[in-house]
Amino acid sequence: MNIIKLNAIDSTNSYLIELIKSTLLKDETIVLAKEQTKGRGQMGASWYSKKGETLTFSILKKFNSFPIMSQANISLAVSLGIQKALTTLFVSEVSIKWPNDILSDEKKMAGILIENQVKQGNVSSSIIGVGLNVNNDFFENLPQATSMYISSKKKYNLDLVLNVMCDCILFELSQLEHTNFSILKEQYERFLFRKDKITVFENLSGEKFNGKIKGINQTGQLLIETEDNPLQEFNLREIKMLY
Ligand code: BTN
Repeated sequence: MNIIKLNAIDSTNSYLIELIKSTLLKDETIVLAKEQTKGRGQMGASWYSKKGETLTFSILKKFNSFPIMSQANISLAVSLGIQKALTTLFVSEVSIKWPNDILSDEKKMAGILIENQVKQGNVSSSIIGVGLNVNNDFFENLPQATSMYISSKKKYNLDLVLNVMCDCILFELSQLEHTNFSILKEQYERFLFRKDKITVFENLSGEKFNGKIKGINQTGQLLIETEDNPLQEFNLREIKMLY
């Protein structure tokens, strides 16, 4: 593995984004930080991590010609890689909460932040940030968070977990240019949290409604069936799952 190990940094994603502007890095370079002072999450949220207990790392994946319209596939592949890695490490009941929160026993164990670089209509590279709760023994004010330790009552070697994670994520990414959406969709939906179950959602106007998750479409939108509507498509900012 090409790995850059840092003691502390604001965010491994931000660090890599800056570094690729000035340095020619090898494909699959990994940046690992023991501590992040300004970890970033999806939709502008911050990502909390604890030194020595949470794995925080980012992977640089370069592409030759990956069409921008297929960029949802990158997110599907990364989610599947982490799902498979955790299952390999005997974590129980691993599922994917759309779009890419990784849950174990219905609680969030890992988060993913993907930032794509685009050149002439193609994704030239992707920075894939992963925050994984490994040895955390509790979370203050985060009732829906969990860790590998909370789930299994075992402490893990962070280097070993990192190795398994990166192997699985990089394997899925290496298949991307030869895999089509329907194969990824089929695999992803197999692990999709609350698929085909009646679930409460909240829309942008704060209205709550019941619906069933039916799957995802090619652009990664969530497909929900409601009483009045056979199938509606939602983007991440448009809907919140209440569970
Ligand atoms: C989320 O669930 O909202 C995504 C969280 C992603 C956190 C990781 S930690 C490593 C990388 N660096 C960041 O600043 N964020 C990602």
